[in-house]
Amino acid sequence: MSEFHKIASLMELAGTGQKAALIDGVPALLIRTEDATYHAIEDNCTHATKPLAGGEITGTEIECPFHGAKFDIKTGEALCLPASAPIGIFEVEVRDDDIYARKKPVAEPDEKLPVTELPVVEEKSISTAANTESAEGTDDAGNSGNESGEPSLLDALKEVIDPELMVNIVDLGLIYEVSNDDGHVKVDMTLTSPACPVGPQLVQQAKMSLEKLSTVTDAEINLVMSPPWSPERMTDDARDQLGIF
Ligand code: FES
Repeated sequence: MSEFHKIASLMELAGTGQKAALIDGVPALLIRTEDATYHAIEDNCTHATKPLAGGEITGTEIECPFHGAKFDIKTGEALCLPASAPIGIFEVEVRDDDIYARKKPVAEPDEKLPVTELPVVEEKSISTAANTESAEGTDDAGNSGNESGEPSLLDALKEVIDPELMVNIVDLGLIYEVSNDDGHVKVDMTLTSPACPVGPQLVQQAKMSLEKLSTVTDAEINLVMSPPWSPERMTDDARDQLGIF
């Protein structure tokens, strides 16, 4: 197990609350959060290996200044695309006026957290219709383009682009179900995270895109969070665009 080494003084984080450092030879970022606690994370966004230094910090989250991925400063967990892998974190101690840190030791088998059973929740069934539209533009939900060449419902939804990821909401896997009852369209969609800041904008744009179609009288967008979105729902095209393999 590596030793704690002095990395910085508290004074060095007095201004921005951040300081780049090397911990055991690894580029790291020291952070003072709003609650005046100190943390150290690997200064390397797992999306495209860019530094996180200078990223906006809200509570215990840091946002990558390049493409907006968010990470939990305490656990390293990736909270928001385009990053899906966690960042490394370090153990930190404050001694007098100085900050010491070291690599976080790997838990021994008997130190591992017990596996707790997750509550079984009834999963919302996901219509495959939204994902099986044929190349000719027809799917089981009756989402075919009309004879005037008007886009299908899914094609209309593909016009809605997540501004943070620059990928359309269909390829991101946010559309769970689409139904069309004689022009009254209902869509169940989700967000990449319940705290996604662009959620209301995406919902509004989805509604507007659908209601632009002459065959649609009105569109109702229901935001659902169960089952939660996961990167596996993305199409290969979306993965390619985001550099996720
Ligand atoms: S490099 Fe961090 S989100 Fe792309």
